[in-house]
Amino acid sequence: MEIIIQPDSLQASQVAARIVARLVEDKPRAVLGFATGSTPLPLYRELVRMHRESGLDLSAATTFNLDEYVGISPAHPSSYHSYMWAHLFSHVNIAKGRINIPDGLTRDIPAYCRQYEQAIHSAGGIDIQILGIGTNGHIGFNEPTSSLSSRTRIKTLTEESRRHTAAGFGGPEGVPTHVITMGLGTIMDSRMCLLLAFGKKKARAVARAVEGPVTAMVPGSVLQMHPRTVVVLDREAASELEMAGYYTWVYDHKPDWQRY
Ligand code: GLP
Repeated sequence: MEIIIQPDSLQASQVAARIVARLVEDKPRAVLGFATGSTPLPLYRELVRMHRESGLDLSAATTFNLDEYVGISPAHPSSYHSYMWAHLFSHVNIAKGRINIPDGLTRDIPAYCRQYEQAIHSAGGIDIQILGIGTNGHIGFNEPTSSLSSRTRIKTLTEESRRHTAAGFGGPEGVPTHVITMGLGTIMDSRMCLLLAFGKKKARAVARAVEGPVTAMVPGSVLQMHPRTVVVLDREAASELEMAGYYTWVYDHKPDWQRY
């Protein structure tokens, strides 16, 4: 894992955006895996800015989102469809037909999940998967005890995760109980993973995922087995890392050709 610690979430998101932009410049037909939640918002803002001001061209890219709530329509204001259109897709030039977000209203969920996996495969696999992390260590919606080799499937949310998104559904009782999420095995098949985490409340989950044992109790810890994961943090999210000083030194001494 490469750990990059930045002074704040804005600068961290700028590093992340440069990583995504460089990939798309090198490979215009890149397959991008997107995440939702509050964490990637400054990254999406920066990608929109790059598209408008520096000619970042996403017209040949394909996208796959990690997850969606089961039982709500894409038009629901708190659906991940709405989120992605509001924060990214309406403001950049990704072709509508190449945008993939799990359909929370699908009737045959197992068959749909198999198709989603097949679609990722047919697109050539995900080049870069953006990830946030839950306070309980989940990535996507792979809650603790998710199989480390799971594929796209239905999952039941923990109470903690439902509480986290309660505001968008008029209280915790209104939050859907189930989601469709890429599995940990699906995420691990991505060529690169880019995990972002900001704020003190993520510090423990980050420390457990990055420096703790690999365990299904902390699903993000599976990334320790990934050959190319970059973790971009602000200082607060990095505050419980034992080796923070080492990561900072390594980043500051990168040769120019390795810089983002
Ligand atoms: C949700 C999403 C995850 C996200 C997590 C953290 O569970 N499914 O992809 O990483 O929330 O959310 P936030 O970024 O708002 O802290």
